[in-house]
Order: sequence, then C-alpha cells, then structure tokens
Amino acid sequence: MKSLSFSEKLLHWYDRKGRELPWRGTKDPFRIWLSEVMLQQTQVETVIPYYENWLEQFPTLESVAGSERDELLKMWEGLGYYSRCRNFHEACRLVQNKHAGEIPTEWSDFRALPGVGDYTAAAVLSIAFQQPYPVVDGNVRRVMARLMSYGEPAPKGTTLFKEQLAKWINSDRPGDFNQAMMDLGSEVCKRYTPHCSACPVAQHCHSKQEGTVGKFPVKSVKKPRPHKIVVAGIIWRGEKFLIQKRPAKGLLGGLWEFPGGKVEKGESLSDALIREIEEETGLAVAEGKKVGAINHSYTHFSITLHLYHCRPLNGIQSNKNSQFRRWISPQQRSQFAFPRATHKLFEILESEAWRTDA
Ligand code: ADE
Repeated sequence: MKSLSFSEKLLHWYDRKGRELPWRGTKDPFRIWLSEVMLQQTQVETVIPYYENWLEQFPTLESVAGSERDELLKMWEGLGYYSRCRNFHEACRLVQNKHAGEIPTEWSDFRALPGVGDYTAAAVLSIAFQQPYPVVDGNVRRVMARLMSYGEPAPKGTTLFKEQLAKWINSDRPGDFNQAMMDLGSEVCKRYTPHCSACPVAQHCHSKQEGTVGKFPVKSVKKPRPHKIVVAGIIWRGEKFLIQKRPAKGLLGGLWEFPGGKVEKGESLSDALIREIEEETGLAVAEGKKVGAINHSYTHFSITLHLYHCRPLNGIQSNKNSQFRRWISPQQRSQFAFPRATHKLFEILESEAWRTDA
C-alpha cells in the first residue's frame, strides 16, 4: 500500500481538527486579506471581535476605499501596529482606483500594494486564489525548525523553510495546507508543550525521530528592551483638555494622545513636563496634581508614563486648534483613537472622577 505524503496526512488532520475561524468560511478575497492583515503580529482570539466589527461597518473593499482614515483607526484602536490599518486603507484605495476594484491575483501586483509583504502575499494568494505559495509565520517557523532539526536560530527571512514547504505544499489546496501548518503549530506543535503523540506528521519529524524536540527551535540571544521615562500633561481649559494627533507615519501614527515626551538624562519629571509641553504646543503651563503613572511595553522598548494635571499660564495663546490639536471634554474621547497606554491613563482618571484638585 502506498503511504500517504506529508501533505495528505496534514490535510487529513486539518479536515478533522482544523480550527473553525470566521475568515475560513469565506471565499471573498477582501475578507481573507483583511483577516491576514489583522493576524500579523496578533493572536487569533484578539483578532476575531475586531474582524467581525470591521466587517459590520465596512463589508467591502469599496466601502474601505471610500472611508476616512480616522474612522478606520478608531476601529483598530487597541489592536496595535497601526501602520497595518493605514496601509490597508491606502492599498484598498489603490485597488479601487488602479485595479478597477479587483484585488490583483499576480504576485508582483499584489505584493506591490502598501503593507503587503511576502507573508501577506503568500497567505492571501494561497487562501483566496489557490496559488501554491508557502506561508512562513512564527508558528510555522517553530514547526519547521523541529521537522528539520534546524540547529541555528532561524531568522525571519530564512529561505530554507520556504524551499522545503514549496516541495510539500499541496497544489490543489495550498491555502488549506498553509492554514493546516499554522494550526499544527498553535494546537499540536506548541512552543512549550508539543503534543507529538497527536501529530499527523510525526513520522516526517527529524527531531521527533532523534528524541530532541525540546531542543528546537534554537533561540537567538535577545537584547534587553530599553526602558524610557515619559511625562505627559492633561492641560485644562475649563471643562476641556488638550489632545494632539501623532504624525501619520511611525509608531502609533495617526492616534491621539496627551502632549508630553521623553525625560532626558538628569532631568526632573517636572522640568521635562514643562519643556515638552512648551516644545510641542507652544503653551507655558504650571504643573498641578499628579494623576498617576503606568507601565507599558512596545515591541522594541517599554515605558513608564507619568501624567500630571496642568494649567496654562498667561491664558491660552497657542490656541492652534489645527487638525492635529483638539480641546475635548472627557465624554468626547470616545470619538478619537488613542493608544493603549493612554487608555490606561484614562482608567486612572475615571477612577478619580477626573478630579484636578490636590
Ligand atoms: N494566523 C495568520 N493567518 C492565519 C489564518 N489564516 N488562520 C489562523 N491563524 C492565522
């Protein structure tokens, strides 16, 4: 009897044990693309409610292309890596205007869209259009490192895994093959507790045969994450306070926050507060009661963020109520997208009923 191939065993397992996820019941390439954009860097359970909410409000590529960036960022609030949202918006507009609303099916055309890297291109083209491009994400890298007993830390661009996957990928069901590899990583070949006895491809696994599964993947030595001290002010004008919008590009681009910035070496929190607010808004302020401090981690660094109530001195000349600066009441904050760190500060403010007195 002919033994089943790697891909046949994997797909047989996937048909019985694969996860049912909201984007798996559709053939609509727009929905599949949206899911893959959200799933980059973000866990499935976190993505599901964002994905469903997005589709209720913007169910088609055309509706995204016709929307405002701020509306989309508001829906993305809390999901992180906001450039994904900005790029997806821009890419949908390009598809609408340059490709007559049809998502391109050629690798070079789709890959050229903003925010579309090798990962997204392979995922969307395989799942939505049955093209045999292997996907290599974090889960798949771990599975492959074990299958191949790969003895070095595997950097993101490793082509070795892709080359092997290209030999295995099923040409009738490449999208299912890729998603089966992801599910195998998340459900069976787990980082800390691999369930080798439940693995459909254990016979193909080099490290399982050697009894060395626990040694893979080989970890690279991580540099410690730098920690920054940041101060910010909630500057009051009557019942309203000042928020400003971050530049469109870069970390947290297009989100709103309190004015403030990094404390320099040797500088006091108070001095940094006054200096940063002056630099950013042109306002001279006096420091008031401290609201509190929160800790937050980003991918490449972490922060402690201190927030102070502030009162403008000499009235408010710098009333540059530009598109990047708004005076809002506490209730109006639901209309703007803020980073998670700012939401942590809002929680402290709420718990103290926004009291500004000492
Ligand atoms: N992570 C990235 N893409 C995924 C998908 N299609 N299914 C499950 N997890 C994923």
